[in-house]
Amino acid sequence: MAKDVIVALDFSKAEEVFSFLDAFAGEKRKPYVKIGMELFYSQGADMVREIKRRGHSVFLDLKLHDIPNTVKKSMAVLSSLDVDMCNLHAGGGIAMMKAAIEGLTRPDGSRPLLIAVTQLTSTSQEVMTEELWIDRPIDQTVMHYASNAAKAGLDGVVCSPLEAGKVHAVCGDGFLTVTPGIRFADGERGDQVRVTTPAQARELGSDYIVVGRPVTAAQDPVAAYRRCLKDFLGEE
Ligand code: C5P
Repeated sequence: MAKDVIVALDFSKAEEVFSFLDAFAGEKRKPYVKIGMELFYSQGADMVREIKRRGHSVFLDLKLHDIPNTVKKSMAVLSSLDVDMCNLHAGGGIAMMKAAIEGLTRPDGSRPLLIAVTQLTSTSQEVMTEELWIDRPIDQTVMHYASNAAKAGLDGVVCSPLEAGKVHAVCGDGFLTVTPGIRFADGERGDQVRVTTPAQARELGSDYIVVGRPVTAAQDPVAAYRRCLKDFLGEE
């Protein structure tokens, strides 16, 4: 099964993106990148096309959540950008997730991977119970949403590497875990609380690690990216 390191392009300006990516121009392996809402909403679809043209795989992290028909049509637009991975909120329900897959599927039968967000890590148990009126414990809710995503035919979920083993036990080994919260042992944590190193994420069974600042804010981003590849994939 494909495993990879995804670099989060958490920039809003095109110049920042290109000066970051230019450093990888001579590299044999171009990083798989994540484009989030900030960059997509500021730069639009042309940014996605340009990054694809430069030879990068793209995870478009827009977390769709709407009625099934709207999600289906929107996913068709994203799929036509030739992205490699998209996502949505599992809270939209199984019908919405199935509609998303239909929308993503291209005329030749291919489609980007589709990954679910279960509960956002910013949602506490207290918020779930008091505000959202979801009475079950948050860890059970997360696993239930993951199994709904698997039932709908999605390819995986975003989760912590610390949850990867449980997700695989509940949803199957082939169900992908896309895991942020990655830090080098000797690096800054920033605002992340539950962190693992790339090597720990590999041992815990993560399929893709999502790494932002440890690479984008490094003095030598190419060296930091290579370090992730070596620790997570065992590549030199
Ligand atoms: O800079 P850092 O490595 O913390 O970036 C992690 C990336 O993963 C960011 O784009 C962040 O929004 C995303 N993410 C996360 N935690 C989640 C879901 C997504 O850090 N639970």
